[in-house]
Formats: sequence, structure tokens, C-alpha cells
Amino acid sequence: MCGIAGYVGQRNAIEIVLDQIERLEYRGYDSTGVAFKSGDSLQIMKRAGKLAHLRAAVEEENPFSEVAIAHSRWATHGAPNDLNAHPHYDATGEVALIHNGIIENYLELKEELTRAGHVFQSETDSEVAAHIIGLEYAEGVPLEEAVRRAVGKFTGAYGFVVISMREPGKIVCARNASPLVVGFGKGENFIASDIPALLPYTRTVAVLDNEMVALVTTEGITAVSPDGRTVKLSPFDVDWDIESAEKGGYEHFMLKEIHEQDDVVRQCLAGRLGQENLTLDGLFGEHVWQDIDRVNIIACGTAYHAGLMGKTLFEKMLRLPTDVYFSSEFRYNDPLLSPKSLAVFVSQSGETADSLAALRLCKERRIRTLGIVNVVGSSIAREVDRVLYTQAGPEISVASTKAYLAQCLVLYLLGLHIAEIKEMPGVNVKAGLKAVREFPEYVKEALDLESSIQDVAKQFANSKLAFFLGRGADANVALEAALKLKEIAYIPTQECPAGEMKHGPLALIEQGTLSVVGATQEDVRDKLVSNIRELQARGSHVLAITTKDDELTPTVVDSCAMIAQTNDWYLNALLSIVPLQLFSYYMALERGCEIDQPRNLAKSVTVE
Ligand code: G6P
Repeated sequence: MCGIAGYVGQRNAIEIVLDQIERLEYRGYDSTGVAFKSGDSLQIMKRAGKLAHLRAAVEEENPFSEVAIAHSRWATHGAPNDLNAHPHYDATGEVALIHNGIIENYLELKEELTRAGHVFQSETDSEVAAHIIGLEYAEGVPLEEAVRRAVGKFTGAYGFVVISMREPGKIVCARNASPLVVGFGKGENFIASDIPALLPYTRTVAVLDNEMVALVTTEGITAVSPDGRTVKLSPFDVDWDIESAEKGGYEHFMLKEIHEQDDVVRQCLAGRLGQENLTLDGLFGEHVWQDIDRVNIIACGTAYHAGLMGKTLFEKMLRLPTDVYFSSEFRYNDPLLSPKSLAVFVSQSGETADSLAALRLCKERRIRTLGIVNVVGSSIAREVDRVLYTQAGPEISVASTKAYLAQCLVLYLLGLHIAEIKEMPGVNVKAGLKAVREFPEYVKEALDLESSIQDVAKQFANSKLAFFLGRGADANVALEAALKLKEIAYIPTQECPAGEMKHGPLALIEQGTLSVVGATQEDVRDKLVSNIRELQARGSHVLAITTKDDELTPTVVDSCAMIAQTNDWYLNALLSIVPLQLFSYYMALERGCEIDQPRNLAKSVTVE
């Protein structure tokens, strides 16, 4: 998610890594930093804010080094300030490290280290990792061996790059979940988190596999597996231009972001799931949750749709009355707010003007507030009483995909957390945690539906109207799926709970009208099938999204996409958004629409 760059060669490494970082700027970031050899020590320079601030500081000193690593941070937790920016030193200052990802067991490790007298400059898990690597290195082993030993102690997601003063010709990198790519030059070699950072320098690259530890020197690049066996890298030549490289080789950011979603789920869960329980840091204490009598979820657009999922969840699972408001309406309707209620603000950007105004009204009314926000340090995140970050990474496509999935997932985790605290009878938190742990694999599997979804999209790309229907949680997902199609393919949609159709919308069905139906909710499936038959009787073509164990719906509908059965009604419904996002994408592609920047729409709406 954040940008990583590294260089070792004969040229001025500092200039090269800062240029590499600049090439990753399009993804957004909030602080930057660089580490390099300076005389007999390793120097780190880092600045909150734009790269220009760091450049100005570097230019003042005009340093030269043949090895350097640099970072641009897009905070997923921890404030975006100078201290939390990367790189970080180990305890001796002999090692400097950059880290993308989250070390889940860092608190335990930090406690141990603190007992042993270690002092930390930042709040980050990354600095703890630097100290652990430093301790292994103090045993006198080569840097690559120290990193290999240290990563065996970490659980969670990481992409590390490390340099040391003792062996200044080496950059060592290691990855698990966070991507790293090495680039091969002549007498010089490179490392980066993403291919665009490498392209001006080399087109021969190799992607590091999970759990690999690689050593980058001027002579070459080698890699080992966790048990120390040499593993072969598979270099390939990149023929993408810079623009498609920024999109990870995908034609659009939207498609890239859809495909990132299994990793987004992992990232969103990182640091939050224990074996038996859940850790949602920084939330209200137990007595507050016992006191809350009502939830008001306030949001716009896609985030509002995530809020609807929250309502269904909280009411069904927690029996906690929940209202969902459009932020733009909230202030003007003199909302009835119980003094014991909780206002939850869901927002990707954390800057949506209407949501921010609604938040200020709740604060005036002295209602407790909680943010579910993607952008760390954004206005909403700063102004709410408590915040849960979605940890989805930067979202560039205007039409939101991965942020929605992460918002709904955080709402689910919050639901489990409240159930745990309230000891809700009938809620099996352990089973919920198990389902959530398996969710990334299910998302990955759902992405495999891509080519069959593309075929259906080809068939219906000229539709004048599309229906989106479902019952229960599927009715919420239908709203989000319809919004996606409207936003990027400019096709008018009619979305409603399937049972409501016959109260009006059914009049719009003509021969061949496409109806997209979510059928993941087992308890209402029979009713839904009756609705499907009503549609078909009027000539509609029905595409259903359902779970693999559903033996009924596929026998009735015209086209069907089957997703995994997660053993959880909420997660089943949520998973169905993945093929539906792909469907909108391919409809828009067939129609030649401008997918990442739809007409008239903006990513962040900062005017009321
Ligand atoms: C805009 C974006 C949507 C987003 C909505 C709310 O309309 O195009 O994708 O859902 O704003 O934005 P927020 O940043 O508050 O989630």
C-alpha cells in the first residue's frame, strides 16, 4: 500500500530512490523518508507531508551514497507524522528498516524488548521489527540471515527492506502479503513495492513470493526460503508503459482494486483477530457498550450502503435498534437522537462535507461518535470520539469497491465485538471469527468468476434498464451493485427488495430486461424463487448470484454465478458484491465508458 524503493550501485542512490518514490506518488501518501550511508553511519531523513519537503531537506545537505532505501507512507493506523514515518533504526542505529504491512504480535515483542531495556522513538510495529532484526544481527550473522531469523518471529503482513552500516553494499528484503519487486540492472540493482518505480531504470524484474528473503547487491539478486534454502527467482521483461504499470497491468484502477480485495480483507483483519477473540484497539470501554441503546449510521453513497449492511447485522445479530441516514438529509430533518445512542460515520475519504457536518451536529448534541474511515488523519477520523480504520489502502477509482468491502467487514467485526461484550445468547463469536479468517480465500475464489461474468456482460451491454433485487442482506447488496452499474456504465437501474417489485417496479419489465438477483440468503430463498418466476413470466432474463450449496436457484434462473458458502449469512451476502463489481466493470468496458473517472462524479465530495 505504501511505496518502497531501494537502490545499490555506483550512482547516487539517494536521487534514484527519491525519483522512484515520486513515481508512486499517484497513489497518495502522507509522509516520506530515506535512509542511506553517510560517512561511518546510517542517516535517516523523514518528513510528514509531501515529497517536496523531504527533497528540500535532502538538497540542503546534498549527500551521496551508493546505497539507499526510501518510503512513502499511506498511514493505515498511527498518525501520519515525522516519528511514525519510515525508515526506522534498530536499537544500535546500525540497521535501518522500511516496513509495509502490520506485525500482529508486535505488542508482545515490544513488551519483551522494553523489559530488556529497549527504548522506542515511535508507536509503530515497524520499529519493533527493526529492533528484533538488530538483535539477530548483533549475533554476528550476515544481514540476510538476521532478517530471515527475525521474520520467523513475526506474524502478520510485511514487506521489509533493510540496510546496515556493517555491510553497506547490501539491501535485504522479505515479504509476506505486502508486495515487493526486484529490478535487475548492470552493476546496479533495485527493489520497489511496485513495478512503476522500476521502469525508468530497468524492465527486467522479478516478483518476490510470499515468505522469500532476498539479498540485493551490485553483483546480483538472490533469494532464500524461510528454512534458508536457495530459491530461484523468475525474472521477466515488463513491456507495460508507465500508465498501465501504475494500474498493476490492469486496464483500469477499478479492476486493479477489485482484484486487490482478498489482500484488502487480510489487511483489514491484520492485528484484529486472535485465536479465540477479537482485538479492536481504541474502542469504547465495556460499560459504554452496555449503555448504548441505539445506533445511528450516517454516510453517503457507497458508504451509506455499507451502513445498511450494518443495520441488518446489528438488528439481526445484536437486536440493537439501528437507523441509517443519508448525511445530506440528516441535519435538515431534526433527527431524533437518544442521548444513549451511538452515531457511526462511515466514510472512505473521511472528508465528505455532508458527513462531516452531520458529525458536528452529533457532537453538539453530545452523542457518542465512532468513525469507520479509510484515510488516516482525515477530518472525520480526527473529530470522532473513536475511530476504526478500514485499512483498505488508497482507492483511486471513483467508483468504490475495496473500500465498501472493508467497511462492511469492519462493521461485522464491530458486531462480533459488541456480541462478545454483551455475551449475546445465540451469537457464536468463535464461528464468526473462523468464517472471517477464511474470507480472503473466498474472495479470491469469487474473483475467478471473472470470465463467465464478462460473458454475461457482453450479452447485456446494450441494456436500457437493469433490475437489482434481493431479500434481506442481499437487498442491501443489490443497492450497491446497482449504484456501481449506474456510476460507470450509465445504465438506469431499478433496485429494491425483491418482494416490493409487484408494488410498482414490475411494470417496467419487458421482454429481455435484465434482472440481477442476489440469492445468498437461505432463509428466504423459496420466497425469492417465487419473485424470480414473476420476473421470468414477464420476459426478464435473470442472472442470479448464489452460494455453491444452493440446489434450487440455479435450476430456475437463466444465468448463475456461484460463490462460496461461508456458513455466515452476512459474509455470504457481502461476498456476492465481488462478481457484481466485476459485472458492472465489464458492462462499462463493453460500452466504452470512462471507467475510473465517470462523468459528473468525484471521488471525494467536499462541498455540501
Ligand atoms: C462520492 C464517491 C463515492 C463515495 C461517496 C462517499 O460520491 O464517488 O464512491 O461512496 O462519495 O464518500 P466517502 O469518502 O465519505 O466514503
